[in-house]
Amino acid sequence: MVSPDFQLVQLKNGSWSVRSVAEAETFHPVVGPVAEAEALYVRQLQLAERFARHSEGEFVIWDVGLGAAANVLTALRALRELPGQLRVVSFDHTLKPLRFALEHAAELGYYDGYEPACETLLANGAVTFQNGANQVRWQVHTGDFPALLGSPAARSWPSPNAIFFDAYSPAKNMAMWTLPLFRQLHERLGPAVPCTLATYSRATLLRVTLLLAGWFVGTGSATGEKEETTIAANSPDLLAQALGLDWLARARRSTSAEPMVEAVYRQMPLSPASAAALAAHPQFR
Ligand SMILES: C[S@@+](CC[C@H](N)C(=O)[O-])C[C@H]1O[C@@H](n2cnc3c(N)ncnc32)[C@H](O)[C@@H]1O
Repeated sequence: MVSPDFQLVQLKNGSWSVRSVAEAETFHPVVGPVAEAEALYVRQLQLAERFARHSEGEFVIWDVGLGAAANVLTALRALRELPGQLRVVSFDHTLKPLRFALEHAAELGYYDGYEPACETLLANGAVTFQNGANQVRWQVHTGDFPALLGSPAARSWPSPNAIFFDAYSPAKNMAMWTLPLFRQLHERLGPAVPCTLATYSRATLLRVTLLLAGWFVGTGSATGEKEETTIAANSPDLLAQALGLDWLARARRSTSAEPMVEAVYRQMPLSPASAAALAAHPQFR
């Protein structure tokens, strides 16, 4: 069926990706959905190693920007052999990309076998199923993520061990990249639950925002599309390559480093107050 909202685009390497017509953004624009999800989330967040070591209760993934579910399904496939309990909490303000992608599951390729689970998720907002050796509980919260995170219901969500942060780019999707949002997200982590967050951007603006929101921040691995991405954590031990004083010096010189406090895109150098707060972050002391 032809959709006015989404298109399927074939990338140079032959793989297919979903494109939002309204946002003029391709979900996984260069290496494709599976290669990007494997590099950015599965390997970088060491999902298999951490899930294998996780001995108490569910290992919880927050999937911010469910979209066409490439990130979740790639993670599920990577964890199939490992026993345990997985909980996936997805967020998106629309389920249209998932519906669209399911209609094009053959081209996209990564649904292979997960179609019934996705159909149930779409119909009921939640699904439980056996994923090889592990048991999965997957639910989706449909709505504006910043509003959902600020709602009383957020208190009942399980604290995440890993966060896939995959909104559209900051210039187009400002509300998903503000300082108040990342602060709220940090406050919502379980203090005793080790958590890492990965995202595709390496922008100084994003990294400053995460640091000032309370996260520890490191250089993220290459994805094939980007030579560097960003990983954040609630404990410095979880970062292999924490940003250091050389990065801080570059951030002070950057013309785009001041966090957005509301959903209005603008590029500004660090304010004196932000520069002082950044220098006082425990990561740089
Ligand atoms: C790049 S796409 C995500 C691709 C997806 N992770 C995948 O694996 O296919 C970005 C997603 O973020 C969602 N999004 C953007 N702003 C949002 C908001 N304020 N609240 C919730 N979801 C939002 C969009 O609807 C879109 O599906």
